[in-house]
Amino acid sequence: MPQVKKLLLIGVLYLLVIFMVACSGGNDAETDSSEGENNDENESASEEQVTIVYATGVDTTGATQSQIEAFEQIHPNINVEYREMPADTGQQHDQYVTMFGSQSPEVDVYNGDIIWAAEFAQANYALELDRFIEADGFNLDSHFEGPIQAGNYNGRQWALPIYMNASFLYYRTDITDTPPATWDELIEQAEEMQGEEGTEFGYLLQGSQYEGMVTNFIEIIASYGGSVIDENNNVVINSPETIQGLEKFAEIVQSDFVPGNILNFQEIETENAWIAGDAVFARNWTYMQSSSNDEERSEVAGNVEIAPIPAGDEGSTSALGGWMAMINRYSEHPEESWELVKFLASEEGQKIGAVEGARAPTVESLYDDPEVQEAGPLFSNPSFVEGLSVAVPRPVSPIYPEISEIIQIEVSRVLTEEQTAEQAVENMEAQLEEALED
Ligand code: GLC
Repeated sequence: MPQVKKLLLIGVLYLLVIFMVACSGGNDAETDSSEGENNDENESASEEQVTIVYATGVDTTGATQSQIEAFEQIHPNINVEYREMPADTGQQHDQYVTMFGSQSPEVDVYNGDIIWAAEFAQANYALELDRFIEADGFNLDSHFEGPIQAGNYNGRQWALPIYMNASFLYYRTDITDTPPATWDELIEQAEEMQGEEGTEFGYLLQGSQYEGMVTNFIEIIASYGGSVIDENNNVVINSPETIQGLEKFAEIVQSDFVPGNILNFQEIETENAWIAGDAVFARNWTYMQSSSNDEERSEVAGNVEIAPIPAGDEGSTSALGGWMAMINRYSEHPEESWELVKFLASEEGQKIGAVEGARAPTVESLYDDPEVQEAGPLFSNPSFVEGLSVAVPRPVSPIYPEISEIIQIEVSRVLTEEQTAEQAVENMEAQLEEALED
């Protein structure tokens, strides 16, 4: 439909709604002052006061709250109730599976991990977004392709990206100016520098048996040329490269320069120890830039820089992470939910995430925005943006949770010295082949 006709139609519909509300004696016909991408926010959302529930994992940055406030200002008729979910992505996943498995409408919009779309689409937990995207002309092309693809399954779009994640090596500039470029250098420097400037540990990572450990594993094996499943869905995990990477991972986890309870470390434990000034180096996602330099929370503000994850024989790699906005298939407010999804994925919504939460936008143009550049040193660094585009994805599959569980169990048994890396890759190969055959 030509734009002018469309706007006219929207105008007429809008007046009609106001007229109807006025006739019914309603007093909540506030004008929606939205300035969304296409000025047609009112087309789908009704003007009735509606409350929707938005569920996201623990957000230590405060960006989610600001996004909600900005959204509510644009949409005075939509109230957003924020439901905090566990920080651990696997625990969030399981709670959603229980909720949506019983067709519960208790949550309307939720943040989905980049690894969930295939599974949630197939299980009918997500509302397909294509009709909304088309109706509003939402521009998918302004985003990086990887995260858009992550929300696409069977040619249909089930999720829109809110931010993407790559991991980095955080280091203390008051201890060193030359961060390690390889895993062997990391081991050497962590041993040597541990204890300087009041630190207790050389290095922090995520060793707990959960999804975050899988990302640590994926990137260290990839840095030696190893991977789990190839593009033709063949299991290729049983390789000398994967064994080498896994052995390096185990060597680091079993070293004296990581905390004794590193097998309980997830991102939150890493962040807490890091901002308390306990370590020289740490692996974490982009968001830790925000807390590292927060004068109120961090003991190390002003003394933190970021470098690429150390390299193996095949170079440095990061796992691709990130979060997407999805609508519960059983939501009773799909139109209003779409408005929130659209906002969170939009340039405006993502900018709040970047400025307040150091979350890496998927809208490419935001990397040229001065406020975004100011918020995180990484965002104005071209090699960072390039790094994001080459981050290694995890296997895309509707049975991803099963794949992850196999990796979690077998890799953990190497980290705890219950089996060798060779035994682990053999076990994983057999179990993954069986899981993928079903
Ligand atoms: C981050 C990533 C997500 C990943 C998780 C693992 O939240 O964005 O993709 O699964 O960490 O802990």
